[in-house]
Amino acid sequence: MERIQVALERARAKRGQGKKPAAPAAEGTKQSSIKGDSELATVWSELKPFEPDQDLLNEHKIPAFERNSLSTPIDMLRTKVLQAMRDNGWSRLAITSPNASCGKTTLSLCLAFSIARQPEQRVAVIEMDLRRPNVAASLGMPRGISQFSKALEGRDPINEHLVRITDNMLVGANLHSARNPSELLQSDTMREALDEVEQTYKPTITIFDMPPMLVSDDMMGFADSVDCTLLVAAAESTSISEVDNCEREIAKRTNVLGIVLNKCRYMGKEYGYDYYS
Ligand SMILES: Nc1ncnc2c1ncn2[C@@H]1O[C@H](COP(=O)(O)OP(=O)(O)OP(=O)(O)O)[C@@H](O)[C@H]1O
Ligand SMILES: [Mg+2]
Repeated sequence: MERIQVALERARAKRGQGKKPAAPAAEGTKQSSIKGDSELATVWSELKPFEPDQDLLNEHKIPAFERNSLSTPIDMLRTKVLQAMRDNGWSRLAITSPNASCGKTTLSLCLAFSIARQPEQRVAVIEMDLRRPNVAASLGMPRGISQFSKALEGRDPINEHLVRITDNMLVGANLHSARNPSELLQSDTMREALDEVEQTYKPTITIFDMPPMLVSDDMMGFADSVDCTLLVAAAESTSISEVDNCEREIAKRTNVLGIVLNKCRYMGKEYGYDYYS
């Protein structure tokens, strides 16, 4: 028994030798639970709470609070995203796609719930698709609870339009489209509002649900405000050249964290999708 212990320790030490040290966490991204910080606990507790209906989330393919066959690939993605972002000291992640309906909003929310299942994380989802917003509808939020574009325009305080979904997950959503989304996504008031979200609520990760790239310049205008981007492609609908062009465009302005192939109908068991079912 003792020999096994020693061998295990040796193996662990050896693995640790060549490991790249994690980059120091950026200002405001220190990992600590909200409850351990009374000031932070107070500002989070003052946000409007909203608990989404589990059946509605299931209908929208958002595995929020349960582990099932849908949550497994998302949890695997979460681990890769968190590791890459931590290693690089990144905290802002945009999720976009070449064309519409690839699953950006679904993925943004799935990933956020998955991250929120780790209590040491704090996650904010900010909806930046200000033309066809869908976060509020996906979560089943009631009217009037959140129109975050008003905070981005500097017309309302940010806390009026942020909603607490779990102890460590908040959302800034929109029920209506905004006026002049392109200009708004490049404005100083938008930058100030996002800085304030970070300074006040200290999210370890902020996920921005973006519009598709091939229908407007919103994503390109906003790209330099994020640390990295995930590009979502839909199986049987997004072409390789669309992915290729969009990846190249994003890479000119920010880091491409990866490409997610969504809506695959035919996935083999070798990908582990049936493991827990
Ligand atoms: N992995 C998936 N499997 C099956 N259906 C999915 C999957 N991901 C998303 N969908 C469905 O596809 C539709 C579009 O999803 P979603 O709204 O997330 O896409 P989007 O890229 O945000 O769209 P838009 O470009 O309009 O913002 C929704 O009905 C959603 O439930
Ligand atoms: Mg969307």
